[in-house]
Amino acid sequence: MQDLLPRQKEVFRFIEDKARAVLYSYGYQEIGLPVIESTHLFSRVVGENTDIVEKEMYSFDDRNGESLTLRPEGTAGTVRLAEENGLTFNQIQRFWYAGPFFRYERPQKGRYRQFEQIGVECFGMPGPDIDVELMFMTSRLWQELGISGDLRLELNSLGTAESRARYRTALRDYLSAVKGELDEDSLRRLDSNPLRILDSKVEKTQDLLKGAPLLGEFLDPDSTEHFEQLCRLMDKRQLPYVVNPRIVRGLDYYNKTVFEWITDSLGAQGTVCGGGRYDGLVEQIGGKSTPGVGFAMGLDRLALMLEPNFGGGRQTDVYVAAVGDNARERALLLAEDIRDLSPSITVLVNCGGGKFKSQLKKADASGASLALILGEDEVANGQVTVKHLRESGEQKLISSDGIGKYLTENLQKE
Ligand code: HAM
Repeated sequence: MQDLLPRQKEVFRFIEDKARAVLYSYGYQEIGLPVIESTHLFSRVVGENTDIVEKEMYSFDDRNGESLTLRPEGTAGTVRLAEENGLTFNQIQRFWYAGPFFRYERPQKGRYRQFEQIGVECFGMPGPDIDVELMFMTSRLWQELGISGDLRLELNSLGTAESRARYRTALRDYLSAVKGELDEDSLRRLDSNPLRILDSKVEKTQDLLKGAPLLGEFLDPDSTEHFEQLCRLMDKRQLPYVVNPRIVRGLDYYNKTVFEWITDSLGAQGTVCGGGRYDGLVEQIGGKSTPGVGFAMGLDRLALMLEPNFGGGRQTDVYVAAVGDNARERALLLAEDIRDLSPSITVLVNCGGGKFKSQLKKADASGASLALILGEDEVANGQVTVKHLRESGEQKLISSDGIGKYLTENLQKE
């Protein structure tokens, strides 16, 4: 689990702010999910034979002996929330959430045991239009973040549970014939979840898969039509994508559309956003049949992409330096007056004393463009000395009452 230092946190905040603005502009509403849910919910929704449930959940018994789990993902909790609050049947919903998630994975660059996601879940819309909206929306966000050039969209259709079951049998038959050559992980998955072998990172396994049957050949007519309409709409807006029949996703609940946004700039952990349709899920947890679709993006990975070129977040505008007991008191009060007048100005007060020389060094290092200097004389006369730190020039004495006006005229705020 990684610590986030101020600069990293600023990048996270920048991404969140942009995402929030885009999500609201499409009419999505924020929900808050518990960080802990019943273990049973995740094993039922994510799937017993997935990596997440088999080996990545942080589960523990609470004081009543009930097994609880730190949420490894947000779809399960959202479906539970929507169902429990009567928000699914015969209704259209567009929800989003943000926060920490937990998976016991082997940590490496871009893969952590606590990570942040922003996720979106939609209910009540069966057609490909909403799938396409999700892709338009994410694409718009990449543009806002300035990373669209580094990301590609990969799409696939998984069909219905039945068509996937037929494909699973065909794939298992094909791979059983070359069983001896499979890597250990793939061999383990051959019985439990053979589709996961498709995104194995082992080169030899990928070679073996070259002649394997393709999921697309097993799709039912309804899923085929859904996918064709989806591609047609994408083409109309000329949003580039690649159809990748190997994308199966690591969670069991998907049907029809699945998609991933991938970058080559982060090594092995290149998927920054993934999602798809899950039309059977609400019914599976006991609700009335309701179509669903969504995605989640990993903030840690997006932040890694943005960090090298990140210009910095909020800057200090004004540094208040003061020497002498009265002046130090006055400095705190003057800073409050400035914040009352103009909340967008960032004011840093020199707390902790020191000589003027060292205080002005700190003022310079803070990045502020103006220093306000208070000594006993200024306090006695109701004045402030103003020093422009980024340009040479005389210091000016101005009246304390006029400071608000002076700052508005001399600070360029966006
Ligand atoms: P997921 O593909 O497991 O999907 O995760 C979504 C994204 O979260 C990944 O693409 C990645 O960026 C980020 N992520 C996942 N695990 C880690 C990790 N250990 N460290 C850093 N980042 C990570 C889901 O979670 C689904 N609930 C998405 C969804 C919503 N599908 C439909 N609705």
